Amino acid sequence: MTLKPALADRARPVAEQPLNHAGVDRASIGKLVREFYAKVRSDGRLGPIFAREITGDWEPHLEKMTDFWCSVILKSGDYHGRPVLAHLKLKDVTEADFEIWLTLFAKTTAELFDPELAGVFVDRAERIATSLKLAMFFRLAPSARADGQ
Ligand code: HEM
Repeated sequence: MTLKPALADRARPVAEQPLNHAGVDRASIGKLVREFYAKVRSDGRLGPIFAREITGDWEPHLEKMTDFWCSVILKSGDYHGRPVLAHLKLKDVTEADFEIWLTLFAKTTAELFDPELAGVFVDRAERIATSLKLAMFFRLAPSARADGQ
């Protein structure tokens, strides 16, 4: 039996479907990215971390992050980076910093989108933050390692 396209779409996990919502397009996602990183840059803890890494023009980072969020939310395929590698390089970032990051992100989405839509962005950000934190901070306890090291 072949599913009709609409049903086949519904059978995919929600996170894999492009969000089809009036008002969510590259322009509004670009605005979210810019307003979010304005908050990040003026945050006492996150501001200096980003300032150390992005020493010149912020525009390429903002465009890359717009590509990233268009890929995540709209499934645009615009982003082709390696987020885990980019964060593994950041040695002075702690798990608590992710809380600050997520709080600022939630605040920005709430300012720009209705609560349901803001929730979609925040949910995706939380999932990605969890996988970044696992890559950055999770180490097996020595007794759990197969090689006994
Ligand atoms: C405390 C938390 C975080 C800090 C301090 C942080 C910091 C950074 C920095 C310094 C860069 C490199 C900027 C550059 O040189 O272009 C970067 C890149 C990036 N970040 Fe984060 N980040 C955090 C959390 C997150 C989260 C939660 C997400 C996703 C939801 C995210 C997504 C990305 C992406 C997609 C890139 C671009 C990677 C690439 O392709 O080069 N970051 N981040």
